[in-house]
Amino acid sequence: MTLYLDHNATTPLDERVLEAMLPYLRGSCGNPSSRHLQGRLARSAIDQAREQVAALVNAHPGQVIFTSGGTEANNLAFKGMAERCSPGRIAVSAVEHPSVLEPAERLARHDWQIDSIGVDSDGRLRLEALERLLHQADLKLISIMLANNETGTIQDLNSIKETMAECGALLHSDAVQAVGKMEVDFRRLGVDLMTLSSHKIYGPKGAGALIADRSVGLEAQMDGGGQERGLRAGTENVAAIVGFGRAAELALSELQANSTHMLELRNYLESKLAEMSGVVCFAQQAERLPNTLFMSVAGVDGEMLLMQMDRHDTAISSGSACASGKTEPSHVLVAMGVDKGLARGAVRISLGKNSSREDVDSFCRLLAKVTDEMAQMGAMMANG
Ligand SMILES: Cc1ncc(COP(=O)(O)O)c(C=O)c1O
Repeated sequence: MTLYLDHNATTPLDERVLEAMLPYLRGSCGNPSSRHLQGRLARSAIDQAREQVAALVNAHPGQVIFTSGGTEANNLAFKGMAERCSPGRIAVSAVEHPSVLEPAERLARHDWQIDSIGVDSDGRLRLEALERLLHQADLKLISIMLANNETGTIQDLNSIKETMAECGALLHSDAVQAVGKMEVDFRRLGVDLMTLSSHKIYGPKGAGALIADRSVGLEAQMDGGGQERGLRAGTENVAAIVGFGRAAELALSELQANSTHMLELRNYLESKLAEMSGVVCFAQQAERLPNTLFMSVAGVDGEMLLMQMDRHDTAISSGSACASGKTEPSHVLVAMGVDKGLARGAVRISLGKNSSREDVDSFCRLLAKVTDEMAQMGAMMANG
């Protein structure tokens, strides 16, 4: 059986979520825009999911715009905002996910000025760098993720918001990795836009949401039948949205138990890794997600390590899963000032709510074996 330790890439579908989805996959699920009974039933299922997703982050159901996932929500936040006004400046943290960095890059090709805000050696935003940018005229949007997908570093959005007090720019936060692992409160954080994704919280792939108040003017990026407040046209993926809603409900009710369990396991994993030679763990001084551990083994290539672990039916990730395949070192570690050689060796272990101590023990045994083999192979090749 696969040892799956890549929950920040995606989580397995919770059986209870599947149960909730099945009636909308089987039989005659109507189009939620239809006026007949089948349509009305589909509409009310979506309404319920909207309430469940809103409750997860303490938002109003009317603030939830369903999308196909986190990527689309991030794109809608950036492009939807940009189309509403004349080009100005956007500030993003240097460690954002590509689904934030790439839309920003695209806007830069259309007269927008993009500023990157640096982080410290543990991946925390440099508030003084943000402060310097706030004095610049025409700053329209600031985007800071709540928790990083690679290091797990949690950004102090309360301090960021305080720093921004006098600034009229909108604040967007990608909370895709945060929900289900820590408390996330849209209202209390005081952000204007927030991104969520279903498949990181044991829901189906292909569903997500942008949380945005109506007062935040956004331009639709998909025109058609006017669904989702006219911001995201297209017949809704009812089963996926229902699954997202149920996953959100479970994530909220089980948050305390799951995060405590994952933190205990991560601490156990770290204590075992501390006994191994050459292991360097990143961002350990920062407040981090309870399930995430980003590390390198000195002299070991991360991509090779991933492949060897995969040969033994163990799933981990090197750098960001969405960016893997690229041989460039993680942009997150580069922004943290980690030596490029060490950064190339980085692998991420992300635990899940069903991970166990046995999983951690098996992983550590395999890691020791595989890194030994790789070191021996390296020595043989060096000796010709
Ligand atoms: C921080 C972050 N934002 C956005 C995304 C994209 O979400 P989705 O896969 O739902 O498009 C991911 C996925 O890995 C992520 O980790």
